[in-house]
Formats: sequence, structure tokens, C-alpha cells
Amino acid sequence: MQTPQSDTVPSVKIVPRETLAKSRVLVVGDVMLDRYWFGDVNRISPEAPVPVVHVQRQEDRLGGAANVARNAVAIGAQAGLLCVVGHDEPGERIVGLLGESNVQAYLERDPALPTTIKLRVLSRQQQLLRVDFENTPAHEVLLAGLARFDALLPSHDVILMSDYAKGGLTHVTQMISKARAAGKAVLVDPKGDDWERYRGASVITPNRAELREVIGTWKSEEDLLARVTKLRRDLQIDALLLTRSEEGMTLFSDEGVRHAAADAREVYDVSGAGDTVIATVAAMLGAGLPLAEGVALANRAAGIVVGKLGTATVDYDELFA
Ligand SMILES: Nc1ncnc2c1ncn2[C@@H]1O[C@H](COP(=O)(O)OP(=O)(O)OP(=O)(O)O)[C@@H](O)[C@H]1O
Ligand SMILES: [Mg+2]
Repeated sequence: MQTPQSDTVPSVKIVPRETLAKSRVLVVGDVMLDRYWFGDVNRISPEAPVPVVHVQRQEDRLGGAANVARNAVAIGAQAGLLCVVGHDEPGERIVGLLGESNVQAYLERDPALPTTIKLRVLSRQQQLLRVDFENTPAHEVLLAGLARFDALLPSHDVILMSDYAKGGLTHVTQMISKARAAGKAVLVDPKGDDWERYRGASVITPNRAELREVIGTWKSEEDLLARVTKLRRDLQIDALLLTRSEEGMTLFSDEGVRHAAADAREVYDVSGAGDTVIATVAAMLGAGLPLAEGVALANRAAGIVVGKLGTATVDYDELFA
């Protein structure tokens, strides 16, 4: 939303492929597998009044932090992924899909953990049921992840925290302060109402509902600016990028307020657009671009990705076409 005090983001400039290829993003957070079972329904079960699905096909996609990392690679950066998975079939599937996506996986294994999986059962384009498996990783495994984080810091330019509230980011506050002390930018895609845990982050990228949970409902753009300014000051967060679905996105920083109108031509599938946004901003910061230019490119990437069915990534050629 443009107001008298807000400016627009700069127009996008082409970033050479070689520059982007040097950008090294470390994604830390909660990974999940999005699984889809497609089948036919021809009868009602004799056991209970429910349809019986005869499964014909299974499709798996990387979700959560793994989808973020995949997006960073798709636009041409390098991405490492630090997360916890179980010792099970979905965990192996995630390993396989990360390999196909050229994401460098740094996985901590928790033998007692069911790897997070969201299973959808569909018939004739209709979702019949969703089944979730998830749990919080064990304490020792999370501590091992924290130690691994220290080792990975020097070889990455930008750190990206992808929080889906599954427990993978239990030590996020410590990770942020270690990364900032090492001079690295830290981006956070937040979850929940306790943002004290993200204290000291460089950029936080909530959507409207996520921000409302923390600062309440704003009454005008001026009111929003006042609330965001106070929040940034209280938590020592340099910048806040509010993603506003069909209203585009707004960047709040010490340099002022800059808005980018949504630039989607067609909208087919908005899920995962937030992952594309933060992955693009991180990749561009790692390539040395100023934040506002990274945001302009993230807005363009989001406009492309919402026009796609299925593949929730944008590649270099599409972004700079
Ligand atoms: N309906 C839409 N029309 C045009 N652009 C959209 C639409 N929805 C999303 N976008 C683009 O995608 C960006 C991110 O979307 P949104 O604010 O919905 O993030 P999000 O809720 O975190 O998404 P998700 O969690 O599903 O990945 C927006 O800032 C905008 O650029
Ligand atoms: Mg989101």
C-alpha cells in the first residue's frame, strides 16, 4: 500500500549469473515432506461411513526449509540446509529429493523422530483427508545441530531461518547472535507470537497474519509503520519485509518504507510464495546486492511463482527474462 511517506522499491537490475553462483546461503529450520496420494473412489467402506480410496499414484515434494533451500538453488545461488530428520522412509525421500535439487544437505538424524510429513489423500481433484506425522526433535540432536551450525558459519554468506514451529529452531536466538557476531546477515521467516527468540535478526519476513499476531491489527498505514518501528527497535531487528499476498510487499527499515506492488499476471497457486520471497532476498544479499534491490527481485520472483501450478520455484532465466 503506497502512502505519502512510502517509496517504491528500485527497478530490478540484472545480476550476472557468475555473481549469483558465488552466493552461499545456509538455510536452517524445519523440513517436511509434502506427499500426495491420488486414487479412485468407487465404494463406501463396510467398516465405517467413509470412502475407500484405491491409491494409483504418489507424488512427493520438498516442504518447509527444504523448499526454501531448493528455491535459492533454482535462482542460481548455492544453498546448504541444516535440519533434523528421522531414520525413516520419508527421511530418505527428503535426502533423495535434496540431492536431485542440488541442495547441500547437513542432516542431523534423530532415530526416535518421525520425519515431518503431510500426507494428502486426493480423488478427482478433491482432497479427502490430510494426515500429519511430526514431533519435536530430541534435545541432544538439537545441540549437535547447534555445534554443526558453528562449523558451517564461516563457509556461508547469509543465514536463513525457516521456522515452521516443529522444534528445529529451538536454539535460534543463539544461532542469530553467533551469525551476527561473525558479520553474517540473518533472515528469519517467523512463526508464532514469540518473536523475542528472533532478537537481533537482520531481516524478518512475516505475512499479514503472522505480523498481526505480534503487533495486533493496524488501523492505517501510518499506524502500521508506528507499530513496526517500535517492534524493530524493541527486538533490534534491522528490517521487516511484510508480504501482503495480492497487495505485494512492504519493506520497513531505517531507510524508510518501500512498497512493491504485486506483479503477478496470473495467479494459480500461491502456496510457497513466501518461501520463494525469502530465498530470493537471501540469495541476493549473498551476492552483495543492497536489501531494497533484493526485495525488488523477490517481488518479481513471487509474481512468477504464483502463476505456476506445482513447481514452486523460479529459475535464473525466468527471473531475469
Ligand atoms: N494472490 C496473489 N496475487 C499476486 N501476488 C501474490 C498473491 N499471493 C502472493 N503473491 C506474491 O507472493 C508474495 C508472498 O505471498 P504471501 O504474502 O501470501 O506469503 P506467505 O503467506 O508467507 O506465503 P506461503 O506461506 O503460502 O508461502 C506476496 O508478497 C506477493 O508478491
Ligand atoms: Mg509463509
